[in-house]
Amino acid sequence: MLNFDYKNPTKILFGKGQIAALAKEIPVQAKVLMLYGGGSIKTNGVYEQVKNALKDFEVVEFGGIPANPEYDILMEALAIIKKENITYLLAVGGGSVIDGTKFLSSAALYTGEEPWDILTKPIRTEKGMPFGTVLTLPATGSEMNSGAVITRRSTQQKLGMGGPGLFPIFSVLDPQVINSIPDRQIANGITDAFTHVLEQYMTYPAKALLQDRIAESIMQTLIEIAPVILKDKSNYEAASDFMWSCTMALNGLIQKGVPTDWSVHAIGHELTALYDIDHARTLAIIAPSLYRYKFNTKKEKLAQYAERIWNIQTGSVEEKAMQAIEKTEAFFHSLNIKTKLSEYTDDYKKCAGFAAERLKSRGWIALGERKDITPDDVFKIVEMSY
Ligand code: NZQ
Ligand code: ZN
Repeated sequence: MLNFDYKNPTKILFGKGQIAALAKEIPVQAKVLMLYGGGSIKTNGVYEQVKNALKDFEVVEFGGIPANPEYDILMEALAIIKKENITYLLAVGGGSVIDGTKFLSSAALYTGEEPWDILTKPIRTEKGMPFGTVLTLPATGSEMNSGAVITRRSTQQKLGMGGPGLFPIFSVLDPQVINSIPDRQIANGITDAFTHVLEQYMTYPAKALLQDRIAESIMQTLIEIAPVILKDKSNYEAASDFMWSCTMALNGLIQKGVPTDWSVHAIGHELTALYDIDHARTLAIIAPSLYRYKFNTKKEKLAQYAERIWNIQTGSVEEKAMQAIEKTEAFFHSLNIKTKLSEYTDDYKKCAGFAAERLKSRGWIALGERKDITPDDVFKIVEMSY
């Protein structure tokens, strides 16, 4: 196992009715900006529950944060934070609203001239404006980590940011919110969380037995609950396991003591920047090609994953590893997620060059757990996913 430091300060309020408990987590004198997305919370009862919980606070609202949170819209919220002297942020939504709120948490205390620099330089946020979250869509783990991904459509950029100052103070996880999520977003959530585990697992053996087994248990749980939750979103037990698995997949725990990859995400973000494809779907497009391309350096872990997750017990390391990639693709297909870029756009041929060039221009010339994925490799991996 590798050396590590681990601290996760986010308090989790999990379970039925926990939205009502959020008031006790916010300082009484706080002036709160409540942030949300395109309006799903207005039709599923979450908005009323949050407003009710905040009834003793001074609250300003900002709705309309889109999926893949848009910088220009967030800048409108930043102006409100300054004008209204907001002291506390409350994100009510999925990863996009939470990530947008993290950007605002950082930007609100940022003293530089151009907040976009937080993403391009990038600037690590040591201290942000305090914020809490009410999660409405299990997927990203943003509710219990300190990272965010922000999009700027005018320049076709999608960039990450983070720092120890960007952990939510608290997050409310009430699995009942899952009831209103469309199938497409449920499938996205499962795929995103599953790939988060893969990014922290599908590397090389690091003699971290417990980390491997925690990662494997999250993947097994997601595979088990996927058909159940897609059939019946009101199944509270399955919803609970789905929600907690997504949080555990990216709250920092399983990455400790092990090498991590994250090249699937780095490349996937370029597909969203170019075509606006849902985040999770970009991962399902890239992961199988990337694992085939990096087969020689990943085959031991692929074979372990084959045995323990897909119960493939016969054959050589190579045969097991190859079958594991096929099983992973089949799992995504079972969620109705397509795994080829050409199934999302006819204009796919420019993508390999775009992604390779973009990563190169940012100096990301050595991706992956061995820092051996160059822009030329990115070109070939994306081409394999056509
Ligand atoms: O905007 P509203 O109307 O709320 O609708 C949303 C949105 O259209 C809807 N939705 C959310 N909760 C719902 C609901 N609809 C009905 N009932 C509910 N309870 O779902 C749609 C998608 O929401 P979004 O927040 O965009 O999805 P997700 O949670 O998948 O977040 C994706 C974003 O997170 C980033 C992605 O890149 C992408 O920008 N990520 C953030 C990470 C992090 N901070 O750690 C890591 C991830 O790898 C990822 O990159
Ligand atoms: Zn992701």
